[in-house]
Parts: sequence; C-alpha cells; structure tokens
Amino acid sequence: MKVTVVGAGNVGATCADAIARWELANEVVLLDIKDGFAEGKALDIWQTSPINLFDTRPVGSTSDYSKTAGSDVVVITSGLPRKPGMSRDDLIATNAAIVKSVTENVVKSSPEAIIIVVSNPLDVMTYCAYLNSNFPSSRVFGMAGILDTARYRAFLAEALDVSPKDIQAVLMGGHGDTMVPLPRYTTVGGIPVTELIEKDKLDAIVERTKKGGGEIVNLLGTSAWYAPGTAAAQMVEAIVRDQRRVFPVCAWLDGEYGLKNIYLGIPVVLGKNGIERIIELQLDKDETELLHASAKAVREVMDVLDKMSVSA
Ligand code: NAI
Ligand code: 2OP
Repeated sequence: MKVTVVGAGNVGATCADAIARWELANEVVLLDIKDGFAEGKALDIWQTSPINLFDTRPVGSTSDYSKTAGSDVVVITSGLPRKPGMSRDDLIATNAAIVKSVTENVVKSSPEAIIIVVSNPLDVMTYCAYLNSNFPSSRVFGMAGILDTARYRAFLAEALDVSPKDIQAVLMGGHGDTMVPLPRYTTVGGIPVTELIEKDKLDAIVERTKKGGGEIVNLLGTSAWYAPGTAAAQMVEAIVRDQRRVFPVCAWLDGEYGLKNIYLGIPVVLGKNGIERIIELQLDKDETELLHASAKAVREVMDVLDKMSVSA
C-alpha cells in the first residue's frame, strides 16, 4: 500500500504521522510546494520510527509527483487555513485553484487512487476535486464528519464524565455552522444520550460543536490539526484495511435525503473501494429541515465555484 498526503503543513504532517504510526502503508509520501519542507517533515517522522516502532517509510517531495506515482489513497490537505475572523468560505478562491492543480497532478500520477479532501471550505473543495478528477464519486470524498463528531463526543464525554470511547454519534450536513448533530442517534454505552443529560446542556453542546472549529481558531490563531489530521488517517485506515466502517463523510448525493448533485456530510460505509454504500436514516421533520438548510448553504458556495474558472 502507498498513501500520499498533499500539503505537509499542520494537518498533512499530523495525518502522515498517524499513517506511519498505525502502519497503514509501506510508504507514506508527503508532498508540498515549499522547498525541502515535506522532506524535512518526512525525515522527522521517520526518526520517530525506532521510538514508535513502525516500519512505514515516510518520503518527502517538493512538487515532484513522480514520487507519489501509483498511490492507493491520496489525502489533499494543501491550502490556506482559517485565521481569526475568517469563515471557511473566505478561503474559496485561493484553495480552489490549489485543489484543482493538485487534483490534476494526482489523476496523472495515481489514476486508480481514492481521494480524500481535507482543504476548506471542505464540501466545496471536495466538489472541486470531483469535477477535476473525473473519478467516480465513490472515490472522491471529504473529511469533516469524523472531526465534527469527535468534537461532539469529546464535549459529551466531559459533561457526562465518561470515556469518549463509549460515545457513538452521527452528524450530518456541511462542514460549517449549519452542520446537523443528531442527538436522537447519539448513544453512551448503548444508552440514548437524551436519558443521561438535560436538554439545555445537550443543546449547549450541540451549539459548541457547530462552532468547534472557530473556537480553536480563536485560541490558536490558525485552525486545528491534531484532530483533523488523525480523523483523515482514520478514513485512510478504513480504506486500506477494508474495514467497512460507518462514518459521517462528505459524499456526493444523487437523490438520497431528497438531495441531488451536491457534496454533503452523511453516514456511509467506508471500505477498499472508497464509499461502499450511503446509509439513509429515517430523519424526522425537524432534522430534515436542518439538513436541507445546511444543503442550501453548501449549494450557495458550490454555485460560487461553478462561476469560477477553477470549477473544471
Ligand atoms: P498549513 O498552512 O499548515 O498547511 C498547508 C500546506 O499546504 C502548506 O505547507 C503549503 O505550503 C501547502 N500548499 C499550498 N499550496 C500547495 C500546492 N499547490 N501543492 C502542495 N502543497 C501546497 O494549513 P493546515 O492547518 O494544515 O490546513 C490545511 C487545510 O485544511 C486548510 O485549508 C484548512 O482550512 C483545512 N482544514 C480542514 C479541516 C476539515 O475538517 N476538513 C480541519 C482543519 C483544517
Ligand atoms: C476545523 O473545523 C477550521 O475546518 C477547520 O477545525
């Protein structure tokens, strides 16, 4: 197995580090445009191998896609992160040009790859990679739901004083303030969360989750990387180990949930072919309204991309 991570910045390097530690591939290639940067990160990760006990080889590359040739999975993290006061959507023009050119290179060097997009604005950058790859949508999807549910699960674990391992949750919609955490589908050791926490506290956790990215941007002056990079690696793991895990993933909808021709977070089964299956939940009226409102917000940014020359 060979995995490439494009963008050796905070998220990309964290992702490559997890891929190496978990031995998800024989080789993990980190590629960046900054001269020597990816090589330096790859070397540093390799020097943790005697400590963390792995033999996956990290390889660094400055814009040389021949080193990435034949990758089974490519994670795209290249692009600007958010700064305080910026929304994810503010990044669209710059990051769309980057994602377009990266995707074109990936398609040439790894025509059979599965592409996982991380760059923001996530749903629209995933759409951009899809348009420019001409790959089937089962092989082009985005990472946000695992991160957003991880935040929700971590907040709940703290509030309930229980292990985060026992909290299962699903969250849908776009990667932004309109995301839709679903308390009705949240359990703690199999117990519905609504039986364990007062409604006002749960509502506050849902609201904090929706703004979870911004909370970290305000603290750090840039966006998060440990949870995002590790979440992307968990998607790589599901694919390379053909685990058929059920995760919320930014996927192309073709009529599911009454939505068509849009990338949006929904639960899927992830395995060796990428998205093996989309899971359709029986949402109630309120949940459906929230999901469609989120789809509307994502659609508006997709329309902006469609009007730009970088769409395809
Ligand atoms: P960063 O600035 O630390 O790293 C980005 C890297 O991309 C830089 O090293 C830069 O040189 C590189 N790059 C730029 N253009 C490139 C190109 N054409 N080819 C190859 N590399 C290129 O940023 P960070 O924190 O790693 O974030 C990366 C992206 O991920 C941002 O767009 C950020 O908003 C997004 N993000 C998405 C999340 C999600 O849940 N989907 C969560 C966190 C961040
Ligand atoms: C995050 O959610 C900003 O998308 C980035 O941390």
